[in-house]
Amino acid sequence: MSIVYKEFITPEDYNTLREAVGWGQLLSEQAEQSLAGSAYVVSCYDDNKIVGSARVIWDRGYVSYLADVMVVPEYQGMGIGKKMVEMSLTFMKSQLKEGWKIKMVLVSAKGRETFYRQFGFMERPNENFGAGMDMWLT
Ligand SMILES: CC(C)(COP(=O)(O)OP(=O)(O)OC[C@H]1O[C@@H](n2cnc3c(N)ncnc32)[C@H](O)[C@@H]1OP(=O)(O)O)[C@@H](O)C(=O)NCCC(=O)NCCS
Repeated sequence: MSIVYKEFITPEDYNTLREAVGWGQLLSEQAEQSLAGSAYVVSCYDDNKIVGSARVIWDRGYVSYLADVMVVPEYQGMGIGKKMVEMSLTFMKSQLKEGWKIKMVLVSAKGRETFYRQFGFMERPNENFGAGMDMWLT
């Protein structure tokens, strides 16, 4: 096994991962644009085989979104997801300027909340904040 991390992913490899974790592929144009609109992308390969990725969407101001954290099932539980989230957080922290604060949000898949809590993400709703909300536009 030869695990390497890269700060890039092709739309094809991104779709391979989506399929592997059960999210289904995006049309290639939409996958391409989603990646092009990301401020940061990390991917993980075992030799030349894609095994994981994560990305950050950021408005270049104070709002950022950690999206699409994916590790193929056979490689889960080996620390790959954790490493990619840490790299994403390191990237965002490196963008902080004097006096800035950046909010990082995510939408946890069901049952993954504990995975994200270890990095400092707080579940919502809580005593002070309402639930996060989302919807699909089709
Ligand atoms: C969630 C996911 C990204 C985690 O990646 P991973 O590579 O399997 O996780 P890691 O091996 O890096 O785990 C790191 C730590 O988190 C813990 N952890 C991993 N998944 C967890 C879970 N579902 N619940 C609680 N803890 C979890 C591990 O035990 C490990 O703890 P340790 O550092 O004390 O040993 C991966 O399971 C995955 O891709 N799932 C399918 C897609 C998905 O649901 N993604 C999340 C979208 S929001």
